[in-house]
This record gives sequence, C-alpha cells and structure tokens, in this order.
Amino acid sequence: MAVREVLKMGDPRLLQVSRPVEAFATPRLRELVRDMTDTMRHLDGAGLAAPQIGVDLQVVIFGVASNPRYPGVEEVPLTVLVNPVLTPLTDRMETAWEGCLSVPCLRGVVPRCAKLRYQGFDADGSPIDRAVEGFHARVVQHEVDHLHGILYPMRMRDFRNFGFTEVLFPGQDLRDD
Ligand code: NI
Repeated sequence: MAVREVLKMGDPRLLQVSRPVEAFATPRLRELVRDMTDTMRHLDGAGLAAPQIGVDLQVVIFGVASNPRYPGVEEVPLTVLVNPVLTPLTDRMETAWEGCLSVPCLRGVVPRCAKLRYQGFDADGSPIDRAVEGFHARVVQHEVDHLHGILYPMRMRDFRNFGFTEVLFPGQDLRDD
C-alpha cells in the first residue's frame, strides 16, 4: 500500500496539461494506478487524477460505493480511465456542490454538462466507452479537468456559492472528494 501526498491548489504542477499514456499493462502504469487507488481510498475521495500526486500522465480513477452516510449519492463503479475523451450528449448544464482533495475543506457550486459519453482505456489497454449522466458525468468531468490543469474553482460562476465545508454543511461530516 502506497498512499501518496496529494498536491494542493497553488502548486504549479496542478496547472500542467498531462501527456497521453503510450504503453499499457506495464509495471509502471500498474504501480501508478495502485498508488492512486490507495491514496483515494485512504482519503475517502470520489476520484483522483495522476497530476494530483505529481504525475503528468492522462490517468484518472473514480468510484463511489453506495454509502448510508450519503443517501442521495448515486453509485459510480470504480473505474480506471486512461487517455480519456469526453463528448457532450446535451447542451443542458446542471449545477451541484463539488469538493476536491487538492482544495481541502472547501466546497463550491459548479456547472457541468448533464450528460456525456466518455471513451478511453483501462490500465491494460482495454477500451472503455460509456454514456452517463448526473453525478457520474460530473465526477468524470471533474477528474478529466485535472488532466487539463483545471481545478473546479476555475469553473465556478458565482463565488457566493463557495466556502468552508464545516460552515456550509455543519455537522454533516462530508469528505473532501
Ligand atoms: Ni479534484
């Protein structure tokens, strides 16, 4: 188990554009995915992108198990997505609260495309092609943004909907995502 340090907003490495992965099923890629999974689980996050642990490769992981602590949250299958390509399937935008392990203790309301297709590969190079909506679509957009050097506050339109989690949602014990 290797829990890696998560970079925080202000670190210039979070603003870089990541490089595509060129070789699949390699020990190096498997180790990266294992470290990302360990780190995400340790911090109880919903997703993590390689740049957040200082690796400038197009690799994201995400997944949310059903949890009685978050009754309104949809389940998202644990997914490793390499070299992702997103295609919007609607012009409709939805707004919802987001957090980020690189922006700890804060939450903000972010507009996202309501429905999209995502394509890419798993760590072995097998293709992934899914059409998703709602929370699943939101998580994918948040993580893939990290590969383009974009953090969720850069997507916000109204900074009145931005603040400390403990103040916005007192007593709810919300994780940092
Ligand atoms: Ni994030």
